Amino acid sequence: MARSIVSIINGRPAEGPAAGVVDSPNPSRLTDVVAEVTLADAGTFAAACAAAKQAQPLWADIPAPVRGRTVAAIGRIVEANKEALARLVTRELGKPYPEALGEVQEIIDTCDFFLGEGRRLYGQTVPSEMPDKQLFTFRVPVGTAAVVTAGNFPVAVPSWYVIPALVTGNTVVWKPAEYAAASAMALFELIQAAGLPDGVMNIVFADGPATFGGLEQALRAGTLDKIGFTGSTAVGARIGELAGRHLQSPCLELGGKNPMVVTPDADLELAVEGALFSGFGTAGQRCTSLGTVIVHESVHDEFLAQFAAAVSAAAVGDPAQDVLYGPMLDQKFADRFEEYLGWIQPHHKVLGSSAVGRITGASPRAGFVGDPEAGIFYHPTIADGVQPDDDLFRQETFGPIVSVTTYTGFDEAITLANAPGYGLSASIYTNNPREVFGFRRGISAGMVSVNNSTSGAEAHLPFGGNGKSGNGSRQSGVWVLDQFTRWQSMNWDYSGRLQKAQMDVAEITADLDFRLEG
Ligand code: UN1
Repeated sequence: MARSIVSIINGRPAEGPAAGVVDSPNPSRLTDVVAEVTLADAGTFAAACAAAKQAQPLWADIPAPVRGRTVAAIGRIVEANKEALARLVTRELGKPYPEALGEVQEIIDTCDFFLGEGRRLYGQTVPSEMPDKQLFTFRVPVGTAAVVTAGNFPVAVPSWYVIPALVTGNTVVWKPAEYAAASAMALFELIQAAGLPDGVMNIVFADGPATFGGLEQALRAGTLDKIGFTGSTAVGARIGELAGRHLQSPCLELGGKNPMVVTPDADLELAVEGALFSGFGTAGQRCTSLGTVIVHESVHDEFLAQFAAAVSAAAVGDPAQDVLYGPMLDQKFADRFEEYLGWIQPHHKVLGSSAVGRITGASPRAGFVGDPEAGIFYHPTIADGVQPDDDLFRQETFGPIVSVTTYTGFDEAITLANAPGYGLSASIYTNNPREVFGFRRGISAGMVSVNNSTSGAEAHLPFGGNGKSGNGSRQSGVWVLDQFTRWQSMNWDYSGRLQKAQMDVAEITADLDFRLEG
């Protein structure tokens, strides 16, 4: 049965005018509507920011260790509801259940990391140039954060923003993807169960234009101090532009065209396993999904044969059963994926399935688990022979398609890996330390994997991209603290007189001409 979902602002259902109602269907069984979502307009979004702004000083006044205990409670509550939340993620987004459990675990890991931060949030004591004067640094919350997230990681990635924002004393307006509304609402309820005061955490459902309008209104009103955004490069650029006009730097986690370099001495079986998981897991709809395999020409044929065999044999279908991947997240991703499939050209050799495109009764896939016509399922596609000026090579292709190209010299592999201009995740399969560190130094990506796939970020390492993948902001671990706090310095002169920095500083005279004899 579909659940009715509305935005919650200040602990109460939003009162502003509705900007429409949309369904969030189960993408593996479209007749199963998971939620009916009432969308808010721009004014309601801005009202949520105003409410969060009002709640922020009181939340920041709560001692950080107490806020840390609240984060600990969120982690425990999520853990106690792990299976229920994972089941909902599988139902609403079509993520295979073991992956959905991993996704929920990522929230718990994030809480585990940040629960102690409430007892740290360290500042420094710093010596002054002058006597009887002491310097200090403090972390100060930025204020109110709007967190706008995608639905491919409907609960884990939002937690990467929300948990550190809360523990550092910020209040939050979360705008999840409409097609992930039920999962988002479930996480929101679990967070609320930890006892957050009204207005500290707000959730708003809105479409793109209303969200953008709401962000703009709130920035103009001075009720929004930080934007966190996970989504496409194009929208990220617009958000960056908007934030920049208000002298803010957003935290942007954008797309990727993540390369995997397979060198001559790579363990090919391992590389194939990694390519299968990161190319086709979550139906290729992770930011960290594998884009292009760049394989040395000497092992190309063997790699391709093994990879094609593995992809052809992989189980696709009902995400509640034992499959590599399930449906597309939502129809809009299927529509875009159809465009990407249009980039396949005659010089590409297509492998991996019996057909390209949607899996249907007329275009079946051997071994499909369940009824393909019930949902939005796509054949896995490998496009071999991709060239650097092909769209398939240069653009992100969110969905179950992996390109393959070859290289001759190692420098060429790095040039090819960087060429599309993204920089989120990159992997190399090699047993040569020179190549490991040469790749690390040469690659543009924020996350580099060695003998591991392009997916699989852990919750306590910095995560974020460069180039078209982001503006250099980093989430997770201690690094995200700089997104949600600003450094404040304090100096305290207790000498009772005005001591001028740089001028009233004692000097010890050195003999700089001193030289050793001989
Ligand atoms: C994303 O796709 O936005 O490494 C994040 C991974 C996950 C996180 C992906 N742990 O694939």
